[in-house]
Formats: sequence, structure tokens, C-alpha cells
Amino acid sequence: MNILITGGAGYIGSHTALTLIKAGHKVTILDHLQKHKEDILETLRSEAGDFELLKLELQNQQELQHALENRTFDAVIHFAASIEVGISTEKPVAFVNNNVVGSQFLFDALIANGNKNFIFSSSAAVYGTPESVPIKETDKISLENPYAMTKYVTEEILRSYANFADVNVVALRYFNPAGSYNGLIGERHNPETHLIPRLLHGLTTDDFVMKVFGNDYDTPDGTAVRDYIHIVDLAEAHATCIDYVMANKGFEVFNIGTGKGTSILEVIQSAEAITGKKINYEVAPRRIGDSASLIADPSKIEKMIGWKAKYDLEDIISSAWEWEQKRPKTDYA
Ligand SMILES: NC(=O)c1ccc[n+]([C@@H]2O[C@H](COP(=O)([O-])OP(=O)(O)OC[C@H]3O[C@@H](n4cnc5c(N)ncnc54)[C@H](O)[C@@H]3O)[C@@H](O)[C@H]2O)c1
Repeated sequence: MNILITGGAGYIGSHTALTLIKAGHKVTILDHLQKHKEDILETLRSEAGDFELLKLELQNQQELQHALENRTFDAVIHFAASIEVGISTEKPVAFVNNNVVGSQFLFDALIANGNKNFIFSSSAAVYGTPESVPIKETDKISLENPYAMTKYVTEEILRSYANFADVNVVALRYFNPAGSYNGLIGERHNPETHLIPRLLHGLTTDDFVMKVFGNDYDTPDGTAVRDYIHIVDLAEAHATCIDYVMANKGFEVFNIGTGKGTSILEVIQSAEAITGKKINYEVAPRRIGDSASLIADPSKIEKMIGWKAKYDLEDIISSAWEWEQKRPKTDYA
């Protein structure tokens, strides 16, 4: 299959590209490569095989239209976006421009050429603070920050295309992606706000003390609970959705998680066992906007498409630890 991956130099995009190239698909990566280095793409080439690279900025409509003119793909997987929730509260307009307007330019350019099949990276952030867990796709949407709003608005733009423009869409609401592909490529956000890479990076520095935000939540050990999904499982979910979106009309949304919750203290214990290092931590006040517990009900995608997570927390942390020890030291420069 001929697949366009936007944001293919990013964390989830590069793992999905690797999975698809290895499976024999013809992959085109579209990315502005601003924060990411060419070495990710070199690793992809040496580990999986060749692909086409379009170095493009989504917000540059003219350039995008010109580059995508007469280009058709069996499916488009749209990852490219700004992702940091905290920054979105400081720069909401920049997030709308990149995530909503940039996406709209992309969809316009592609749909004009007859492209019909889209898989979109949405987020569990659209549920905000849930009324109960596990969370189903039909549960209440609560847009508690600009990032979540841009993800949901883009879902709705795609829903309109599906309703009125004969376009087929799968929107995937990821819970907490983590881990790496055998330590070869991995999580590389800048700034990094995600628990597991922050914790593991801390262990490579002197006098590291981990901050645990809140230990008085209504959870078994008082710390916040999340549903960590292995990046390789997540990449496989996209591969599985390609066949689905090509064979099924309309708009569908799926949660992507394991259905199992893990507390911060459980992550710390598991990381200590895997790395053999003692993790010192201190409890800090809760952060505004953090929910006690975010756990997916992933049964819809299992029933409709047959995808189910295979890896557990130990696989996630051991692969992330492998990556942490191998990753370029220039990442922290
Ligand atoms: N990582 C997570 O925890 C998480 C959770 C839920 C949803 N998501 C969604 O998954 C997607 C991918 O996330 P990620 O963690 O891989 O992020 P990432 O920052 O690692 O990757 C995003 C990629 O998109 C590219 N990009 C961003 N804006 C662009 C633009 N205007 N033009 C061209 N390229 C652009 C970046 O260069 C980068 O390579 C995002 O849409 C994000 O909202 C991520």
C-alpha cells in the first residue's frame, strides 16, 4: 500500500513508519523536521528500508498544495501537530494554527486530488476529567485545554468530510504512549513532559529526585493512574486501521489503550526493578488539570478491528530504558 505519514519524524510517526516500511508498504513521510534530527530518518532507513521524504510545513498552504498536487495515497496517517498541553495554554492561537488550520490545509490539498482514507491522531485529552473509568468512546467530551480543543475540532472537521465529501476516517484517541522499538528509536520530545522518559532520563543524572504530583487522589495508592500503551502496540494499531479505513465508509473513533491502569508509584517500582537503581522521590502538590485516573475501555477496536495491546508495563519501561541509554546525548544540549 502507498501510505502518507505526516509527522513521520516524530515519536509515534517514526514508530508507525518503521512498522509499515517493514511490512512492505510504500511510505512517504511529510514533516517540517524543525525539532527532529535527520538521524531518526537515517535509523529508519537502515533498520526498515527506504521511503520518500517531503520536507514541508503544514501551515504553508501554497507549498503544501504544490507538493501534493496530483498525489494520491491509499491512506493518509496524520500525526503532525503541536502536542504539549502546558504550552497550549500559553499559546492557544499557535496551537489552533498548527493543529487545526494546518490540518485543514492538508485535508484540502489531499481531498482535492481524490484522497479518501484518513487515520487521525486524536487524544484521550478530549475526555478531560472523566466521570468514571474505564472511558468509552461515547463518554462525555470535556475540552479542558486548547490542545484537547484542537484535537476534537480536527476530529469534527474530518467527521464533516466523512458525512459530506465521501471521505473515510478513523480517529484514534491514544491514552499514554510510551516505550521504544528495541531502543533504536524512541521518545524525543522537547520539552519532555511525559512521566516515563523524564524518570528514566533523571536516572542518568546525579542527585535526581523525582517529583510526584499529588498522593491524595482517590486511587489505590493515592497517586495518579494512567493507561500506558507500548509504542509498538500503538504503531500496530495504525497498521491494522489501514485495512479498516480502506474497506469501510464514514467516520469511526477508537480508544487506544490497554484497559489497565498503573499508578505513578507502580511506575517507579517497575523502573527501579528494571534499571536496578533506587529512585528518590518527593511528593509535590497536585497539578491543575491532572485527573486521578485515565483508563481506556479499548473493547470497541478489539471487537470491530481485532486490535489488542500485546505488551505490558515491564516491556514499556525496559524498551524505554534501552533507548534512554542509547539516545544521542545532543538531545539534552
Ligand atoms: N505522545 C503522546 O503522548 C500523544 C498522546 C495522544 C495523542 N498524541 C498525538 O499523536 C501525534 C504525534 O505525537 P508525537 O508524540 O509523535 O509528537 P512529536 O512531536 O514527536 O511528533 C510530531 C511531528 O510532527 C511534525 N510537525 C509538527 N507540526 C508540523 C507542521 N506544521 N508541519 C510539518 N510537520 C509538523 C514535527 O516535526 C514532529 O516530527 C500528535 O498529533 C499528538 O497530538 C500524542
